[in-house]
Amino acid sequence: MWSILKEDVQVPFERDPAARNLVEVLVSYPGVHALLLHRFAHRLWRGGWKNLGRFVSHLSRFLTGVEIHPGATVGRRFFIDHGMGVVIGETTEIGDDVTLFQGVTLGGISLRREKRHPTVEDFVVIGAGATVLGPVVVGRNSKIGSGSVVVKDVPANATVVGVPGKVVEGDGVHRDPMEQQIALDHDRLPDPMAKSLNNLAEYIQRLEKRVNELDAKQGGLEQRQREEVEEPRRYKN
Ligand SMILES: CC(C)(COP(=O)(O)OP(=O)(O)OC[C@H]1O[C@@H](n2cnc3c(N)ncnc32)[C@H](O)[C@@H]1OP(=O)(O)O)[C@@H](O)C(=O)NCCC(=O)NCCS
Repeated sequence: MWSILKEDVQVPFERDPAARNLVEVLVSYPGVHALLLHRFAHRLWRGGWKNLGRFVSHLSRFLTGVEIHPGATVGRRFFIDHGMGVVIGETTEIGDDVTLFQGVTLGGISLRREKRHPTVEDFVVIGAGATVLGPVVVGRNSKIGSGSVVVKDVPANATVVGVPGKVVEGDGVHRDPMEQQIALDHDRLPDPMAKSLNNLAEYIQRLEKRVNELDAKQGGLEQRQREEVEEPRRYKN
């Protein structure tokens, strides 16, 4: 247990370049506070102290702005950067080395008492404000872009962006998990809208070229027709 807690407070040094020292992490990282309180709340929940677990979770939400249901299973080296506005539902399962940014929801769409929240596998990174709904599986080593809404399973090693979320990159292509954790710069995520506009611009250019070619051909044809009409006249004169 101690080794897990030790990892929990060390994780910001690996994933947040702004983290400077242990005191800073201990007093000013709400994601770390939320995780430590969740470890306690989860123990209470599993030990049958459900109301107390709920209360600790509620207290944590009040203090950190992060709501993790005490029933949620969270793996090792979990990191929530910035914290505020994160919601993690009761039947969520989170693997090891997962990173979330502020405003992420791992929520349910069912009102039945069943597995109704996502399963997030190891090394997944979920960008700010993204929402993952239902008992979907976010495959190992995948990235979810900021603001995306994921309602379907995500394969391993994929990048998903948009509403609803679409796989835009890396379908099944293995990336180094450590590089994945370091590559938190979301400006590297592909922009499907810009890609569509670029494709459209290229298509218009091709059409323009073709129209010019046809124009030139048509001009030549008209010129030849004029010459053919004028030729007999010249002989007559
Ligand atoms: C929008 C919503 C009500 C739709 O539920 P539904 O009627 O069962 O719809 P389905 O799951 O059958 O999906 C229908 C289509 O809408 C899409 N879709 C579903 N939810 C979506 C969402 N939130 N945003 C964008 N598209 C969505 C699905 O991809 C699917 O598209 P497809 O037909 O091209 O495959 C539900 O998905 C939702 O968002 N509920 C909110 C739950 C929530 O906020 N929970 C948080 C708890 S903390």
